[in-house]
Amino acid sequence: MRKKLVAGNWKMHGSRAMARELVDAIVKDMPEGVDVLVCPPAVYIGELAARHAGTALGVGAQDCSEHAGQGAYTGDVSAQMLADVGATWVIVGHSERRQLHGEPDDMVGRKFAAALATGLTPIVCVGETREEHEAGRAHEVIERQLGAVLAINGIEAFHKGLIAYEPIWAIGTGLTASPDKAQKIHSFIRSQLAKEDANIARLTRVLYGGSVKPANAAELFAQPDVDGGLIGGAALAASDFLAICAAAR
Ligand code: 13P
Repeated sequence: MRKKLVAGNWKMHGSRAMARELVDAIVKDMPEGVDVLVCPPAVYIGELAARHAGTALGVGAQDCSEHAGQGAYTGDVSAQMLADVGATWVIVGHSERRQLHGEPDDMVGRKFAAALATGLTPIVCVGETREEHEAGRAHEVIERQLGAVLAINGIEAFHKGLIAYEPIWAIGTGLTASPDKAQKIHSFIRSQLAKEDANIARLTRVLYGGSVKPANAAELFAQPDVDGGLIGGAALAASDFLAICAAAR
């Protein structure tokens, strides 16, 4: 069935020394039977990927350009460049990119395409704001965000790509979607994929993100449609991150 995956999104945290120390500790004790992935700031990817080449650890980026290869895009990093330094995964459409950088749905869809074209595995984030949540609009928002990725990439893209449900009201707030609530949304996400292809819907991994901690991880991951987690704050301490990985076994 679907193998669980735990990914750490460090966001803009750490230093070169901290990155080395943290990932050494993760690799030393990471459990078998679950895919483990770290997404450090882009500048640390090359060194970490080289240091842990040949281990089961995946190294990913937090974002990539929608543009392929090279070009006059100051500050951007292409999917090819990420792959060149050893990344094999990339997060696209994180809510912080959508909100702080104004990334629209179609751009996220193109970033997903750029990742796939380079052989990176994209993880697309979807999720509603607190206002949308309170207005009962979560399904509508997720359908729109996912719809843009499907319109550009087609359902076949989910042979490789993953989805992370990250309710914005739960990110960094200590508020977590209850396991039951998370399950309902994950099931809805799967039903959206199933409208296009039931088999791909069954096989696609849907991660949960938003204040996942060692104390709540097991209950979230026990839900039938929750296939692991995208972890922010708790990914910055090896012991917490490893406890979350262990909960996914
Ligand atoms: P927190 O785990 O800190 O809530 O962050 C979640 C997140 O945004 C991961 O991408």
